[in-house]
Amino acid sequence: MRRFLSVNDTKDPIKLADHAINLKKHPMIFDELGLRKTLGMVFFNSSLRTRMSTAKAAYNLGMHVISLNVGQDSWSLESAIGEVMDGGKAEHIHEAAAVMGQYCDILGIRSFPSLQDREADYKDELMHTFARLSGIPVISLESSTLHPLQSLADLVTIKEFQKTEKPKVVLTWAPHVKALPQSVANSFSEWMIAAGYDYTVVQPEGFELHESYVKGANVSYNQKEALEGADFVYVKNWSAYQEYGKVSSDRSWIMTLDKLKLTNNAKLMHCLPVRRNLVISDDALDSDHSVVIQQAANRVCAAQAVLKEILNEIVAL
Ligand code: CP
Repeated sequence: MRRFLSVNDTKDPIKLADHAINLKKHPMIFDELGLRKTLGMVFFNSSLRTRMSTAKAAYNLGMHVISLNVGQDSWSLESAIGEVMDGGKAEHIHEAAAVMGQYCDILGIRSFPSLQDREADYKDELMHTFARLSGIPVISLESSTLHPLQSLADLVTIKEFQKTEKPKVVLTWAPHVKALPQSVANSFSEWMIAAGYDYTVVQPEGFELHESYVKGANVSYNQKEALEGADFVYVKNWSAYQEYGKVSSDRSWIMTLDKLKLTNNAKLMHCLPVRRNLVISDDALDSDHSVVIQQAANRVCAAQAVLKEILNEIVAL
């Protein structure tokens, strides 16, 4: 594997998830593979799980880790081409990406969308610029449009709990008060469709994801109907793609224990962080349905599987 920006960068997502499950059982079996190799992690936005789990995964492989919050630990970075840099940003991404490529062997980048300019956000320019100019393998720690490390951990979690070959998986929109990216929902959809599961996305009118991410999914507008018989319920808010960045806090879409009673005793998933009693009620999150902590735990083995695949290529060169 030369990079990890989407599901398309893995030949076989199921095999990669199986590999992650094996690493979860034996986390230190490749603890020398990454010796004297450095993972750089560059955050344009906040993170708890991605930062800690990816660092832990790298340590398990023997790697060094350098983590940088852009604009706090480093100069603020300009990314616009041809910009006269007479404002607050002291360094251009062109030099910064190339310099980081000199210090690191693998680079992870987190960069959220503006949610103001759909066309620009969906080009994911920043991620691709780092991939092009750093000269080293780049992994997405969540881009403007996708969060593949999260989705791989989600697939691992489903594989650990699934009782049938083709479980019914439902992604349901939930209310929020802030404009959030579509990246987790887009990415989860890609991975569920690639895994061949019985997959449904349910959302209110106007909150449909872009069709390229849900091709092959069932699309519904009726949450209660969609939840019937579900084996896994993934709850997530996203702002509108069509009326780009529009927010809705329609409380009738909150996930509750009562709604989970409609399912096939479904496992409740969320990528975290989650706002209690806005997105998911206390009684649902604190019930036996919830696997959100296991999901977060699986971020380590998922990241480790990806780093290992990339290290395999680096050391073979
Ligand atoms: N789920 C997730 O990516 O969490 P963080 O934003 O805390 O990294």
